[in-house]
Amino acid sequence: MTRRGILRNICALLLGALLPLCGAPAFEASNSVGGIWVFSGAPPFPGLRMMQIAVKAGRATGTLTTDWYGPMPMHDLCIRGKAASFGIHNGNPRLPMKTWMTTLQGKHQMRVVGDIWEEHVDLLARRGTARDAARLRFQVQPLPAPARLGPDALAPTPPMGWSSWNRFAEKIDDPTVRRMADLMVSTGLRDAGYLYVNIDDGWQGKRDARGVLQPNPKFPDMKALAEYVHSRGLKLGLYSSPGPRSCAGFEGSYGHVEMDAQTWASWGIDYVKYDLCSGEGIFRTPAEVQAAYLAMGQALRRTGRPIVYSLCQYGRDRVGSWGRDVGGHLWRTTGDISDDYTTMARLGFERNGDPADAGPGGWNDPDMLEVGNGGMTAGEYRTHMSLWAILAAPLLMGHDLQAMTPETFALLANPEVIAIDQDPKGIQGRRVRKDGAVEVWSRPLADGSAVLALFNRGEVEASVRFEAADAGLARFLSLRDVWARRAWEPATGTATLPPHGVLLLRAAGPRG
Ligand code: GLA
Repeated sequence: MTRRGILRNICALLLGALLPLCGAPAFEASNSVGGIWVFSGAPPFPGLRMMQIAVKAGRATGTLTTDWYGPMPMHDLCIRGKAASFGIHNGNPRLPMKTWMTTLQGKHQMRVVGDIWEEHVDLLARRGTARDAARLRFQVQPLPAPARLGPDALAPTPPMGWSSWNRFAEKIDDPTVRRMADLMVSTGLRDAGYLYVNIDDGWQGKRDARGVLQPNPKFPDMKALAEYVHSRGLKLGLYSSPGPRSCAGFEGSYGHVEMDAQTWASWGIDYVKYDLCSGEGIFRTPAEVQAAYLAMGQALRRTGRPIVYSLCQYGRDRVGSWGRDVGGHLWRTTGDISDDYTTMARLGFERNGDPADAGPGGWNDPDMLEVGNGGMTAGEYRTHMSLWAILAAPLLMGHDLQAMTPETFALLANPEVIAIDQDPKGIQGRRVRKDGAVEVWSRPLADGSAVLALFNRGEVEASVRFEAADAGLARFLSLRDVWARRAWEPATGTATLPPHGVLLLRAAGPRG
């Protein structure tokens, strides 16, 4: 290096340290951290590939490219000599940004420290070349133009079935799915109306050389599995994500939407749950999320196979108002359920979507059932089922059928409760009034009768008065206790409810 060069570098370092470059005009010194930085041996989450920092016309910009979220823009990038700091959206732009720091170590190595979700990153990156950048580039995929898919006849009533997630999470395999299918038949649950056997996250393997997604070794032959499930008079469902990775870290459909839909159809798949997961870091606006869901909706339609399409983006951006347009038959209205009364009640009572969005062909989905998983009392599970039935919610069981008690079966297979859920008119019930811990809900049914549900959300016994007007009727001609499957004897308008309990009534009478 010439003397002039050395002098310039010293000045640059001094000035760089004194004058931070935070999006403002800056001295070239900042270029020391500028350039392409390549990670190797990064852990799978979030799969850091490279970091690019550019200083142009005195302004610094940068991206952090990951397998999970693609190129993540650096916010408030601030270069201070040999170090830089920036903010990264934590996958989800709704959450507070995380601050990342990088420090140059020597000339060609950078230490990168930051957090994303639960993961702390502390890695070294080496200075890379344009060729590295081309190799590690994340292929951003085009999204379809807005369009509206017309209705089909696939979900005239809320879908019913079983899903692997709540009980088995990613510990699911082909033999377990077959056993669940067998048990749905032998226990009578299929005949009670539960039709879909859905494999949630955890079946995916890698893509082959042509890009075709393969199941992982726990699912040796999906076509054979679908044939088996079909031979039992049931239907088979699968799960994927519009992002590059599913929530449990398996391969998603990003960049392979058309191909995946065709693959699933060729296996004989009847139901697809499409879970936003890593897509929330890539599709950053509501319009992009909607377009990503439309892409799969269109691809599923193009297969020509009737496939129920379940949207799972946690109820954001008023999904109920556009779910049908992208081909959805059900859409989650909330984050995940867990097997406890507090969570179940929050979802069922508060996060159940706009009733105006629900009806034949498209349903609000407050998430799958936890009945039989052991975290709630029988009375609390009765509240869970009653609430889902009055909401016209999809009934996707989530327990281990191998360990089902008669009590659990009775909760899931009560024909009168199922008939309420599956009422052909498909009107989602509403809260009529709330008095402290007590809530009165009602739902009109196709035959002119109405459901009246009295819930006690409190910790102590409560009594509640109710009247025909609560059910939209002029007077009661008859009242039936749906769980007991007999007439509601007291025939008075007062009921006593245990803590977390419910009285589910079907009322007949002239409309009020
Ligand atoms: C998300 C969904 C769940 C389940 C898991 C699988 O959390 O909301 O219902 O599908 O992903 O990883």
